[in-house]
Amino acid sequence: MAKIKTSYFCQSCGAQSAKWIGRCPACGEWNTYVEEVLQREEAAGPASWKSSSSLQISNKPRPIAEISYSEESRFDTHDQELNRVLGGGIVPGSMILIGGEPGIGKSTLMLQIALNLKKQRVLYISGEESEQQIKMRAERLGAQHPNCFILTETGTQNIFKQIEQLQPEVLIVDSIQTLHSAFIESGAGSISQVRECTAELLKYAKESGTPVFLIGHITKEGNLAGPKILEHMVDTVLQFEGDRHMTYRILRTTKNRFGSTSELGIYEMLGTGLRQVNNPSEILISQREENFSGITIGATLEGNRPLLIEVQSLVSPATYGTPQRSSTGYDAKRLNMLLAVLEKRSGFKLGLQDVFLNIAGGIKVEDPAIDLAVCASILSSFEDLAIPHTTCFAAEVGLSGEIRAVNRIDNRIAEAEKLGFQEIYISKFNLKGIDQKRLGIKVNAVSKLEEVLSSLFG
Ligand code: TYD
Ligand code: MG
Repeated sequence: MAKIKTSYFCQSCGAQSAKWIGRCPACGEWNTYVEEVLQREEAAGPASWKSSSSLQISNKPRPIAEISYSEESRFDTHDQELNRVLGGGIVPGSMILIGGEPGIGKSTLMLQIALNLKKQRVLYISGEESEQQIKMRAERLGAQHPNCFILTETGTQNIFKQIEQLQPEVLIVDSIQTLHSAFIESGAGSISQVRECTAELLKYAKESGTPVFLIGHITKEGNLAGPKILEHMVDTVLQFEGDRHMTYRILRTTKNRFGSTSELGIYEMLGTGLRQVNNPSEILISQREENFSGITIGATLEGNRPLLIEVQSLVSPATYGTPQRSSTGYDAKRLNMLLAVLEKRSGFKLGLQDVFLNIAGGIKVEDPAIDLAVCASILSSFEDLAIPHTTCFAAEVGLSGEIRAVNRIDNRIAEAEKLGFQEIYISKFNLKGIDQKRLGIKVNAVSKLEEVLSSLFG
């Protein structure tokens, strides 16, 4: 009788154990261990995406100087936002994982990309939807592509058979959690299945040079479902996020072997698919003619792209005991720090106030250059004095209330000027190399928080 090798895996973090345990020592979760079959006796040996032919391929070490490579080999996705987050297009043979909550638009995005890759033969494998459903979505998107093939299949063996016949130039898998490999006994979506299917697809991608996009589900905690190892295996991890009730979607890189991870792609979900938003500052700043207290604009930088973002705050006396501090889109710890700085250095009694901070448009900001806009917004609400909507800020605030320089100030100033702002507050230490006479925007260089406040509120 064939001997079956099994092991227990934590379904939360992927840790392995020879026997069942109640609490995972790796991630601390309870009751997450499930027995999974590692390998059947007859299938011993490394699983391959091709039956046996690939085993004849033998790699030899080569001097690095002899390895040729050209930047042109990347190919254009015809989607500027995706190109940007990938670091300039798709790298052949790369594997890209796209994660996101259900219903956020992952399938829509990938189908749209597939339909736009008019020069390539694209194979879209769906384990979630029927051919008709995909066709219906394609109709909605309104794009035609004679060389885009749909395969509704979940077994990797048949998938590879079809791939060998069709020889696609781009492969899209929707989703990795629905695939199953015959080499592994456990059900689709289990840790070992996900790992095995990804490994088979990875081998295929590397050996054939075909880029592979994997759509991945995320858990309720917001992590990509499946073991962390999945993120280690692929070349690029993209997160598709946004509020499902709002129309804006953000594509963020969390890992990229071929580019920067600070890039951001912004889309708008319309009835006819996703529209690329090429000028995001315009949508992130609410259109207003009046000045309201508590609203300021920060000139931030996401990747290489300057982004003007609206900061809103509401400061009001805490009537029910402990003051509340709430922050959306901005680090709560950093908010507390800035509140302490404002209290200590500028003498504002914020200790007994509720403070609510919100970054408009569902964006998360990590750029410290938004600090000054946050401080100004809080004080504007506290004093109930509006800041002109033609003023913006780009500086970091330090613990002693000093205004610190930020990187690439010229890009930020140029973007603010382009959008019609009349005044920008920056750090004195950022002034070097800025020719104020040639700018159509007034640059206020400050070194201390007090200077900003007296200039704003008199
Ligand atoms: P979908 O791509 O199925 O999400 P996922 O694959 O991430 O689960 O997107 C589903 C949502 O997108 C659905 O609520 C409808 C909406 N949608 C549009 O608003 N416009 C469109 O053109 C399409 C195709 C979908
Ligand atoms: Mg889907």
